Amino acid sequence: MDVGTAYGRPQGSTLPELSKVGPGTPYGEVLRRYWQPVALTSDATTTPKRLKILGEDLILFRTKSGRAGLLAPDCAHRGASLYYGGVEDDGIRCCYHGWLFDPEGRCLEQPCEPDNGRHRDRVRQPWYPVREYHGLLFAYLGPPDRKPAFPVYDVLDDDSFGTIIADDNSFGGGGPAELDFNWLYHWENVLDPFHVPILHARFSGTQFVPAMAILPECKFEYTQVGVRVRSFRQLTEREQLDRVTEVVFPNIRLVASPKLTAAGPARFVGWVVPFDDTNCKVFTLARVDHPDALTEERSRVGGKLWHELGEAEHRRYPGDYEAQKSQGDVASRSREFLTTTDQGVTMLRRMMAKQAKLVAEGGDPAGVVLHPDSGDTVSFRIEAGNYISVRDEPANAPAR
Ligand code: FES
Ligand SMILES: [Fe+2]
Repeated sequence: MDVGTAYGRPQGSTLPELSKVGPGTPYGEVLRRYWQPVALTSDATTTPKRLKILGEDLILFRTKSGRAGLLAPDCAHRGASLYYGGVEDDGIRCCYHGWLFDPEGRCLEQPCEPDNGRHRDRVRQPWYPVREYHGLLFAYLGPPDRKPAFPVYDVLDDDSFGTIIADDNSFGGGGPAELDFNWLYHWENVLDPFHVPILHARFSGTQFVPAMAILPECKFEYTQVGVRVRSFRQLTEREQLDRVTEVVFPNIRLVASPKLTAAGPARFVGWVVPFDDTNCKVFTLARVDHPDALTEERSRVGGKLWHELGEAEHRRYPGDYEAQKSQGDVASRSREFLTTTDQGVTMLRRMMAKQAKLVAEGGDPAGVVLHPDSGDTVSFRIEAGNYISVRDEPANAPAR
């Protein structure tokens, strides 16, 4: 008798408790406990812009006096969309009956009402707090009493080196700016170091640098704020590469240049931000020594970038997008066959489930600081990076 045929294959589970992001979903509530980048600061203008973040429709704008605002789209009066609103000095005016709302949703004017609306202070357009940091606009979509201190990063704030790039177009080696599949596949992939020598080297040819074809020796570990993998590669008889890659909760990736363009700590911080359950985008802040540094990280096939390749070339030279998207928009995780080299993925899912449980029970998830010792920011140190040690010379990597 034939065994292992596809007949009667169960649908399987899509890990909804970790992959779904809408309000009230287990991990959606975890994501809502952190500041999330939702746009470039330059996207907030006097022309209202539609956003979808964590399954919620929102309108982003910037008043003529310069304040960014993020409001629910449906006007608190009778629901016309503020997408058609007009931005003024202090707020956005609904096109239907002219109610004017400030960036925190206060109703400033109701022009059809006596005295411009005697009870207008009883109305509040639903809003979210925003904050601008190095060219990205962050929002906090969670419960107001759990709003955390704003996280900042040592390498991004180090003014002694280069300049900052804020980017919403850099998925990685190759792929569209907006990813049309569940955000978790991409985040998990950060802790999958063994796909690098296969997909990005042996299968598709050198997509980064030849050293990435070396099968690494990996060590996975939990940190206070996520999961870290150290991938060791013997580059030459004397040189060893210790490549440290991290995920930080709830959706941050810290990945040093896969092309080894820089040694030392990673200067890229990326957030995998879900628009909804099947669409997401990576927002990146990078401190770089020249403006093309992020573009140079992208893979090329015969000089062509991902979007310049045809279908036959994508099949011959698949990269991250093809491997991740082809798992399905929301794939069945219970059909997987996880092995020892999937340890990072397993550890991440375990830690995610733990945070979801913590939040459901009223706790605060990993890395959240509600009341910092001083000010309203909390600073994080980045460990991720490419560390090269040379035998008989002091290593520049943290001790193994
Ligand atoms: S629906 Fe917006 S002012 Fe009436
Ligand atoms: Fe990859």
